[in-house]
Amino acid sequence: MTSTDTPENPVSPDLAAAADSPDPAGPDPAVPDGAPVMLALHQTALGGPEVLRLTELPRPTPGIGEILVAVHAAGLNPTDFKHRAMSIFLPPPPLTLGWDVSGTVVETGYGVTLFQPGDEVFGMLPYPYGAGSHAEYVTGPARAFAAKPAGIDHVRAAALPLAALTAWQALVDTADLRAGQRVLIHAAAGGVGHLAVQIAKERGAHVTGTASAPKHDFLRELGADACVDYRSEDFTDTDERYDVVLDALGGETATRSVGLLRPGGILVTLLPGAEDTRAAAEKAQVRAVTLLVEHDQAGMRAIAELVERGRLRAHVSGTFPLAEGARAHVQGETGHTTGKLVITVRS
Ligand SMILES: NC(=O)c1ccc[n+]([C@@H]2O[C@H](COP(=O)([O-])OP(=O)(O)OC[C@H]3O[C@@H](n4cnc5c(N)ncnc54)[C@H](OP(=O)(O)O)[C@@H]3O)[C@@H](O)[C@H]2O)c1
Repeated sequence: MTSTDTPENPVSPDLAAAADSPDPAGPDPAVPDGAPVMLALHQTALGGPEVLRLTELPRPTPGIGEILVAVHAAGLNPTDFKHRAMSIFLPPPPLTLGWDVSGTVVETGYGVTLFQPGDEVFGMLPYPYGAGSHAEYVTGPARAFAAKPAGIDHVRAAALPLAALTAWQALVDTADLRAGQRVLIHAAAGGVGHLAVQIAKERGAHVTGTASAPKHDFLRELGADACVDYRSEDFTDTDERYDVVLDALGGETATRSVGLLRPGGILVTLLPGAEDTRAAAEKAQVRAVTLLVEHDQAGMRAIAELVERGRLRAHVSGTFPLAEGARAHVQGETGHTTGKLVITVRS
C-alpha cells in the first residue's frame, strides 16, 4: 500500500480554475483590518464542487478547552460532498467543511492541559457541528485530538480520524467484536471499509469484504479472509452466517444483510432510513442499529496505538492541494475511491 498523488479519475481543469478564482460574493465574513487571516475552502451557496472557493477568512481563536491547529493535511469524506450539496445536519452556508485534521498546535485556550504549542496532533472535529478543517487553521476541543503517531506523516494521519473512528465505534464499541467471530464488511475497499477490515483482523475476527473484483487483491493485503464481488455475485447467496455486519451502503444491502446474521448477531449501518432494515431485524430476532460517528479521544488514542504497533494503516489513493479541493470532491463523488483522498495544506 503506497500513497500516490495521482488522481484515479481525470477532472475538468475548469473546476480547479473556478476554485482558484475570487468568490463573486467577496470575502465572507468581512475581515477586520490587521486581523490575522487564513485561506479556507469556503462556500457561500450549496451546490456542485464549483461552489467551493479559496477564500480569505479571519483566523479562528481557540475558546475555552480548545486548541488552534495549523492544518497540515485534512481528509475528505463522503459527508463533505453531501454537506457541500445539501443541508443535512448543518445550517445553510456560509460554510467551511472538513472534519479530519492532522497538524500542529499553535495556541491553546483556557484550561487546556493536554497539549501545548508545537505538539503534532490528529483528530476528528465534533461531528456534525464542528466542521472547518479544509482551511489553513482550525479550532476544536482539545479532547477531540490525540498525539499524531510518530511513524506516519500528516497526510496518512489526516486520512484516519473520521473513517477509523467510525470503524472503531461500529466494530469495537457497538458490536463488541471478539476473536473467532465472523464479520461481513460492505464497501470494504472504501475509506471506512479498508480500516474496518484491519481493525476486525486485529480483533482476531474472520473477515469477509465486498468490493468489485479488481479490488480483491487490495482487500487480501489488508488481511481479508474472503472477498465477494458485488458486481457478479449476490452476497446473500451463501451458507455463511455472521456475528457482525458493518454496512456502509444502506438501503436494500442493509435489509438483505439481516438474513445473514447468526442468532444474537448485530448489523451496524452507517446510513439513515433503516426502517425496513429494523423491521427485518425485529422479525429475525437480531439487532440492527444506526451509528453516527462521534468525536472521541479514547477512540483516537486506540487508533494511534494500532498505527504505532503497525496494525493499522490508511491507504491514500490521491492528494490535492487546498486550492484544488473541488477536484478532490469530484473524484470522491464517483463513489469508487480506494482508501482515502486527502487535502494537503502545508508541507
Ligand atoms: N454514519 C456515520 O457516522 C458515517 C461515517 C462514515 C461514513 N459514512 C457513510 O458511509 C458511506 C461509506 O463511506 P466511505 O468513506 O467508506 O466511502 P467511500 O470511501 O467513498 O467508499 C468507496 C468504496 O465503496 C465501494 N462500493 C461502492 N458501491 C459498492 C457496492 N455496491 N458494494 C460494495 N462496495 C461498493 C467502492 O468499491 P468499488 O470501487 O469496488 O465499487 C469504493 O471502494 C458513505 O455513504 C458515508 O457517508 C457514515
